[in-house]
Amino acid sequence: MSLSRRTFLTGFSGLTLCSIASSASARVTPRQSLGPFYPQKLPVDSDADLTSVDDKNGQATGQVTRLSGRVTDQSGVPIKNAQVEIWQCDAFGAYHHPRDGGGVDPFFQGYGRTTTDDDGNYLFKTIKPVAYSGRAPHIHMKVIDGLRELVTQIYVRGEPANKGDFLLNAIRNKQSRQSLEIAFEASTDLTESELVARFDPVLG
Ligand SMILES: [Fe+2]
Repeated sequence: MSLSRRTFLTGFSGLTLCSIASSASARVTPRQSLGPFYPQKLPVDSDADLTSVDDKNGQATGQVTRLSGRVTDQSGVPIKNAQVEIWQCDAFGAYHHPRDGGGVDPFFQGYGRTTTDDDGNYLFKTIKPVAYSGRAPHIHMKVIDGLRELVTQIYVRGEPANKGDFLLNAIRNKQSRQSLEIAFEASTDLTESELVARFDPVLG
């Protein structure tokens, strides 16, 4: 299922000014490892809605989350037409990857991609990440703008497991580390069960 343009724009109304103000001297988003579960082969349905799969009649298990943000360079200039990809394990802690058993939830897409609009904005519908063996909950992200590529991981702000996550804590600078920890909050603009989360990647 595709996210409509209307839904896309609604998701960003009111956020643009805030983004411009906060990105004047932005810190480059720290890089994180690609990990072992980047898709070997992209799923047939690889759109920006990870909570349903085209040929399957059901909804993904998990806390539905609208993950949005704006891709900019260090000067705060939005990067349009950047490709943004995310991948994460399903609500049962399994990646939809052969090396991780192929996943448990048949209604979770596991991977999605989209392209930033003219203002650098992107939007995904996915689930709040859950922990799996040895890792704090996280969402993997790759942003490609021509020859520039950022691979990183997004964590849940306030999640106790973050303190023990070896990859997150490999980032020694506290502000850089915290820039990967984002809030997952209830939104009054959306249905009550959905969360919103915002992550603004800064390409160096
Ligand atoms: Fe992972």
